Amino acid sequence: MKERVEVMITAEAIAKRLEEIAEQVYEDFEGEQVELVCALKGGVTVLVELAKKLRQPATMNFMRVSSYGDATESSGHIQIIMDLEESIEGKNVLVVEDIIDSGRTLSHLRGLLLSREPKSLKICTLLDKPERRVTDVPVDYTGFTIPDAFVVGFGLDYAQRYRNLPYVGVIHFEE
Ligand code: IMP
Ligand code: MG
Repeated sequence: MKERVEVMITAEAIAKRLEEIAEQVYEDFEGEQVELVCALKGGVTVLVELAKKLRQPATMNFMRVSSYGDATESSGHIQIIMDLEESIEGKNVLVVEDIIDSGRTLSHLRGLLLSREPKSLKICTLLDKPERRVTDVPVDYTGFTIPDAFVVGFGLDYAQRYRNLPYVGVIHFEE
């Protein structure tokens, strides 16, 4: 089967939107330091690109959770593969995600992080597919709301590939 990627959101549009979000984050946190927390691997590109646009000091902390195999459907079962290195207690935490699909991953992650008593916790996602939501989760910053399609690029993968694309595209499977 052949795969074809059709551009959905250009690199320029993403950069512009992240600029706006960074400004909003600066205002909401009143210039205070934020700890960017990212669930590897998908969120890493968004985290790095957003970090470069933030006007306040920012630290980075990573974890790895699994919700998908190589398939395109969420299993609903989430596992912590690698936990955060530094404590988030008393910190302003900004969770940065690539995409919210069913919401299961983020909802689980949010509960876990809140139990560690950060000073505040906000959530940023580059993409949101609201049609697919199974578990409600409050999102503070959304880059783009998209229809139900499987997308790749800007950190998002299909079977670990396409993460390095500088744009977001829809993947089509052809005979
Ligand atoms: P959720 O638990 O269903 O919200 O799944 C969220 C995770 O599934 C994301 O962090 C992605 O890793 C993955 N995912 C969901 N939709 C897509 C997609 O369209 N392309 C690539 N990965 C996706
Ligand atoms: Mg992810």
